[in-house]
Amino acid sequence: MTELQNDVFLRALLKQDVDYTPVWMMRQAGRYLPEYRATRAQAGDFLSLCKNTELATEVTIQPLERFDLDAAILFSDILTIPDAMGLGLYFAEGEGPKFERPVRTEADVAALQLVDMDKLRYVTDAVSSIRKALNGRVPLIGFSGSPFTLACYMIEGGSSKEFRTIKTMMYQRPDLLHTILDVLADSVIVYLNAQIAAGAQAVQIFDTWGGALSHVAYREFSLRYMQKIVAGLQREAEGRQVPVIAFTKGGGLWLEAMADIGVDALGLDWTVDLQAARQRVGDKVTLQGNFDPMALFGTPESIEQEVARILAEFGAGNGHVFNLGHGINQHTNPEHAKVLIDAVHRLSKPYHAV
Ligand code: CP3
Repeated sequence: MTELQNDVFLRALLKQDVDYTPVWMMRQAGRYLPEYRATRAQAGDFLSLCKNTELATEVTIQPLERFDLDAAILFSDILTIPDAMGLGLYFAEGEGPKFERPVRTEADVAALQLVDMDKLRYVTDAVSSIRKALNGRVPLIGFSGSPFTLACYMIEGGSSKEFRTIKTMMYQRPDLLHTILDVLADSVIVYLNAQIAAGAQAVQIFDTWGGALSHVAYREFSLRYMQKIVAGLQREAEGRQVPVIAFTKGGGLWLEAMADIGVDALGLDWTVDLQAARQRVGDKVTLQGNFDPMALFGTPESIEQEVARILAEFGAGNGHVFNLGHGINQHTNPEHAKVLIDAVHRLSKPYHAV
């Protein structure tokens, strides 16, 4: 493998010295980029794009050609695991992801089995192909959904606002939900380890819906399973540590508990005060975040001001990776993303001067 030319992101995740704050954006490859929309049209639809090694590689690299990003993220989706488990994933135009066969009954739960990695070969193929294409330019992030977030989609059958179906199961038959979460945690371990073996240099667990739980249920149904995953990961590859990031959207109240599950970094949404968060987690973890993606709808001046505010809020020293607090919106002006990335690099240098 070619030597990594920019390891600022990996160093920041491990709280090592860096000259500037590294930056990447959740959903950095996506519909806000006209070149992404063109490649997706060529593939036909989103899932075909994920399953096409060459085109998935192309869209992963696209944002790096435009912006001075410090990491690439595998182009795929968190719902590949339930799809490979036979639930029949499809995307209804304008409605987001859906499953043909949601998991609802005791029999549905009993039929779930550890994911078969043969069915996810397209993901590990994409990882190897992207690593080749990157040629050491920046590190590649692999990812997975958290068991709870995957279970939300599997049980609801698609996106949800209230989570009535999964919460009904959680309160009436917690045993069934635990069985599902156990199979998912084991599957995520196998899946992320396969990504690491194929060349992922850091991994992120997306817990998009953990914040919908009570503080007690969060620990029992989401955090506990992320802890199990972290304990099962292969955390070294190619002679380097493979850092692990956990992101619970809406998890700001639970940072101390999250910092205790053995991860290297926590992703934060924009509701969190970075200075207070830093005091709460101490030296345990790096903090990643937390620019409100909607602030990209401001002006170039307001975007720079917001970047400056976040950098000042974290303050001097190690342990910050700049990111959005959630995925970039599809209507974002790509020029505004460029303003953000350049501002992070320029304005963060004074915070790292020795
Ligand atoms: O960050 C990246 O650039 C890597 C690619 C990535 C995608 N999805 C591509 C995608 C990643 C990391 C994800 C994770 C993902 N997928 C999450 C967790 C992160 C989050 O946003 O909370 C979730 C919940 C999903 C499930 C999912 N996939 C949803 C809800 C949707 C519909 C979104 C919408 O706005 O319609 C998807 C589809 C999807 N995944 C798209 C992309 C680029 C858009 C598909 C398209 O091209 O039409």
